[in-house]
Amino acid sequence: MEFTVKSGNPEKQRTACLVLGVYESRRLTPSAEQFDAVCGGVLSNLLRRGDLEGKPGQSLLLFNVPEAVCERVLLVGCGREREVDDRRFRQVLTHTTTTLNETGATEAAVYLTDVAVKGRDLRWKIRQMVETIEEAGYRFDTLKSKKEAPRRPLRKININISGRKEQSDSEQAIREGAAIAAGVKLARDLGNMPPNLCHPAYLAEQAQALAQQFPTLQAHILEEPEMKQMGMHALLAVSQGSAQPAKLIRLDYRQGPPTQKPYVLVGKGVTFDSGGISLKPGEAMDEMKYDMCGAASVFGALQACVELQLPLNVTGLIAAVENMPSGQATRPGDIVTSLSGQTVEILNTDAEGRLILCDALTYAERDEPAAVIDIATLTGACIVALGRHPHGLFSNHPPLTHALQAAAHTSSDRVWELPLWDDYQEALDSNFADMANIAGNRDGGAVIAACFLARFAKKFHWVHLDIAGTAWKTGKAKGATGRPVPLLTQYLLDRAAEVSREDARAAH
Ligand code: BES
Ligand code: MN
Ligand code: ZN
Repeated sequence: MEFTVKSGNPEKQRTACLVLGVYESRRLTPSAEQFDAVCGGVLSNLLRRGDLEGKPGQSLLLFNVPEAVCERVLLVGCGREREVDDRRFRQVLTHTTTTLNETGATEAAVYLTDVAVKGRDLRWKIRQMVETIEEAGYRFDTLKSKKEAPRRPLRKININISGRKEQSDSEQAIREGAAIAAGVKLARDLGNMPPNLCHPAYLAEQAQALAQQFPTLQAHILEEPEMKQMGMHALLAVSQGSAQPAKLIRLDYRQGPPTQKPYVLVGKGVTFDSGGISLKPGEAMDEMKYDMCGAASVFGALQACVELQLPLNVTGLIAAVENMPSGQATRPGDIVTSLSGQTVEILNTDAEGRLILCDALTYAERDEPAAVIDIATLTGACIVALGRHPHGLFSNHPPLTHALQAAAHTSSDRVWELPLWDDYQEALDSNFADMANIAGNRDGGAVIAACFLARFAKKFHWVHLDIAGTAWKTGKAKGATGRPVPLLTQYLLDRAAEVSREDARAAH
């Protein structure tokens, strides 16, 4: 989709479709009001007759409006004027996109920037427009033999602004929105790929392809023999039951000041989680193809970072494995030595995410990172605790927590902090190794998993995001969400803004 910004009166737009907002009950947004005044009160007459109330989800398509030069007008309901929040604004945009795609218009002039969204400015609204419209048009049909794409899909959107002085900020908002949307799409595509095609080697190829595409990105793949030699026996224990060899994928982006320590993103890339010998029950097991969505979000965020040319040093680390049962598979009771030297008694082979991440975290120490963020579909317990709206957040460094909470607010990609107290640690005691990989009961499973990881994250500032409930949707709308690409990208955008501020200060 192509996005542009433009100022100008709505009635003067030569467009295939003019999109105007209507509040409940029957109140016009400022641009709709202006249009109405010039066009002889067509809209207010319609509303008076009761054809549209302005409720969210409602819309009305008009043709041949006198005095107007557009081909169509789409009126969309926005709900109560004082109650439009992030969620409502996105709902309105999603509805607008689907409706526009049902018309014959391939281009539209959208006047929804004048909808007042609580606590949000123009830049935010434009960015959300780009992200939401791209997201709403997404489908994953590469593996369908008959595609059901719209006959004449929407290709170009013109977003209205009130004047010249808003131009450059708005264009920047479009660039950011487009980069985030592309990152989200990449993450969704990778997540939705079936596990027979998307295996660790596939993820490694994707990393190399990305590095091919963008010269500022370098890819490096660590193979099993090298990992074995280094001592990543926890990671390799997960992979050993699978016919697919493990890959530790490294993506380096070095566009920051040479003295800046890198921000490291670590992704859980279990391309299929059968549970291993601790086999999962059959119900919804197909969804365990999504157990690599943490890895997918690292790809997406890095791509966004590259496209926005952020002045940062960022490393993506992806632990890519398949967790399968077989004669070679790890048994419950096996004890392995992790890269850190700490030994782990594997009591449940289905608690595999923490086993691959612990070695990836120890490996990240070599980069002397400014901060490490791991992203993992780690525990079903996180879904029990928080449901499917926020990512679970754990951290050993409160300022880093605050930075992510701020980025979550800006990007509307929400997080909720859960505790990481030492009180929980003893649940991981083992009689035979330094620790077990699970606790003896199901209490606080998401916290216990995070506590396990914390033992391998002592040497840097660290955040763990449990995205088990947020990485994909189940049920009829089954599919990857691409989260937390918006959150991660915003975090990096905020760090880049810090660099620019420091540069400005140094110049003084
Ligand atoms: N990938 C799963 C977590 C998961 C399950 C995410 C369902 C989303 C939906 C993870 O590897 C796992 O199996 N965790 C176990 C841990 C348990 C054995 C301590 C779980 O959550 O049941
Ligand atoms: Mn598992
Ligand atoms: Zn898993």
